[in-house]
Amino acid sequence: MTQTIRRRIAPLLGSYRPEGDKSLSHRALLFAALAEGQSTIRRFLVGGVTQAMLRCLRALGVPCELDAQAHILRVQGVGLHGFTPPAEPLNCGNSATTFRLLAGALAGAGTPCVLDGSAGLRRRPMDRILEPLRLMGAHVSSDTGRAPLRFAPAPLHGISYTLPIASAQVKSCLLLAGLSADAPTAILEPGPSRDHTERMLAAMGAAIRPLEAPAHGAVVLPQTNPLRPLDLELPGDISSAAFLIVAATLLPGSDFTLLRVGVNPTRTGILDALRAMGADIQLLNETTLAGEPVADLRVRAAHLSGTVIQGDLVVRMIDEFPAFMIAAAAARGETLVRDAAELRTKESDRIAGMASALRALGVDIEEYPDGFRIRGTGVIPGGAALGAGGDHRVAMSLALAGLIAEQPITVEGFDILNESFPDFPSVLGLNA
Ligand code: S3P
Repeated sequence: MTQTIRRRIAPLLGSYRPEGDKSLSHRALLFAALAEGQSTIRRFLVGGVTQAMLRCLRALGVPCELDAQAHILRVQGVGLHGFTPPAEPLNCGNSATTFRLLAGALAGAGTPCVLDGSAGLRRRPMDRILEPLRLMGAHVSSDTGRAPLRFAPAPLHGISYTLPIASAQVKSCLLLAGLSADAPTAILEPGPSRDHTERMLAAMGAAIRPLEAPAHGAVVLPQTNPLRPLDLELPGDISSAAFLIVAATLLPGSDFTLLRVGVNPTRTGILDALRAMGADIQLLNETTLAGEPVADLRVRAAHLSGTVIQGDLVVRMIDEFPAFMIAAAAARGETLVRDAAELRTKESDRIAGMASALRALGVDIEEYPDGFRIRGTGVIPGGAALGAGGDHRVAMSLALAGLIAEQPITVEGFDILNESFPDFPSVLGLNA
């Protein structure tokens, strides 16, 4: 689907409660499957990526009932070792979170199967889970270090492993496998990746604890009792909210509140980055939901100036860079991002893809292996037809650019946004 986005004169006003967090939806669904008993998950994200996890778990014999209108999911857990070997390869679609988290659960369960995904997913690096899973004793093979992976049953050993790059997907994969290992599993990482797995598994009765600062990571013990089922409502997704935070910041006169958004400190780097540029974002009604901090975010329009992003902040806003790049392009002054080579391994190479799109829109951007430099003038000229490159966050970021650019922007493959944020067009009035 191709969408043309024109400059929006009207401010963004009112409020919106974002759909359930993608990372938490994946985890709640998978962990509920590994528990014993029935779980109920409210405000479950109904998007392409979570449908992939749902499809795989059903193929593994897990009874799941989704009321897509009400966003309520019921899962009948089969336990850590209760998967039925599937007849066909499991198809994770475009979802690396489905692939990597499920890989840890499958290794732990000892389920013989093949784990596969879309052509896009087959290009993404999986050696980062293959190597440590093999160190744990898993029988998992791949011809290329990428999908598809083949699993055969094998007993797992506890290991201590340091991730070369901070990654919540890899950490979660290994912690899940560690539940079925013969000794404790310690995962150390160089930066603070999201800790949703640790929080949720602990709430389900797992013996799991975060490492103490200045170390990052977690330790999990072999699980001797069944995991307890879940009954929870998920916080709104800050990664989806980020698009609306940028829109409200850039559209003059805006005053917009995002309700009950997850503000786990491992995810709020985008708020720190935008505030450092001059954004006006207030946290209101702070409370806890599903063991996670949540707040209402009130965003008022502001003029932005350039900033520098590097180090631990990068991992705390890793999914928000495409939206952030639009903010940087609309800011005045120079924005420099380093230490962000991981952006090249996401749904697309987000440095290359966004840099070439922004250049086509008349923005001054220079690319580095691990980042970029944008020289903002306060104006995005626009006036180009661009492809989303099969990346939901690129599609939505280009739409943001269209809302403020001088000339309309056409985005091909726009509907890929349904992977994570089906409400996006209607909240911004793009269907009108
Ligand atoms: C995720 C972790 C991040 C993030 C992804 C979701 C998760 O990936 O980019 O969208 O739910 O654990 P990495 O662990 O590869 O950094």
